[in-house]
Amino acid sequence: MKIGIFADPEAVADVAATLVITAMARTENRSLGVSTGSTPLPLYARLREAHARGEFTLEGVRAYSLDEYVGLPVEHPQSYRRVLFNELVGEGRTGLREEDLHTPNGHAEDVFAEAARYEESVIDARIKLQILGIGTNGHIGFNEPGTSLSARTHVEVLAKQTRSDNARFFGDDPDAVPELCITQGAGTIMEAKKLLLLATGATKATAVRAVVEGGISMHWPGSVLQWHDSVVLLADEEAAAELENADLYKERWELTTRRNM
Ligand code: F6R
Repeated sequence: MKIGIFADPEAVADVAATLVITAMARTENRSLGVSTGSTPLPLYARLREAHARGEFTLEGVRAYSLDEYVGLPVEHPQSYRRVLFNELVGEGRTGLREEDLHTPNGHAEDVFAEAARYEESVIDARIKLQILGIGTNGHIGFNEPGTSLSARTHVEVLAKQTRSDNARFFGDDPDAVPELCITQGAGTIMEAKKLLLLATGATKATAVRAVVEGGISMHWPGSVLQWHDSVVLLADEEAAAELENADLYKERWELTTRRNM
């Protein structure tokens, strides 16, 4: 795992944007895994700015969401399809075409069949770069503690902690946060060629420590990333505050970046 530690979320977004822009320019297979939540928003703003300057486009890229709430109508402002549409789709944003934005249908009559369909489409896409955030309880996607680290796309019960963390998007009412979601499984996420994990803010410090320096365990689902051979974690100082080996990671980042490794 390559670990970069930066002063603040803005600096994290600058480096993340460079990585995404480079990865999407270089590849034949232009498929990008996108996440929601607040962490990647400064990154998406950088991508829109680069698009406005004519330096970057997601036109022709297929984007795949990590997850979607079950039961929210697509036009609900917090449905992940709506959030990603507003952040990325259209010439005024990043050039991503609407038909190239893929999200699980949280309104499907049979959400279990929908999870299986989505799993197939993600695997077929062979995601080149997957953007990830991390939950305060260590979830990636919505793989909550206790979910198999080799799980495929499935219907997940959101942890109480996650519903309380996400209440800020639902008028501060945890009960308004859906109880279920469809999420790529940890095993599905691990199939992406490269993973870009972003973590900002003090509330993520314990999860970052557990995921990077703890053992691989279902208790902290993000810890499965230790087993992937191409992960970049970009954290701000607050999220990195509990890392025991922070100085080593910083030294290594400096040296490998300077030498273009
Ligand atoms: C979102 C997702 C989640 C979030 C995580 C952090 O698509 O899959 O894993 O990345 O809950 O959310 P924020 O960034 O809001 O702290």
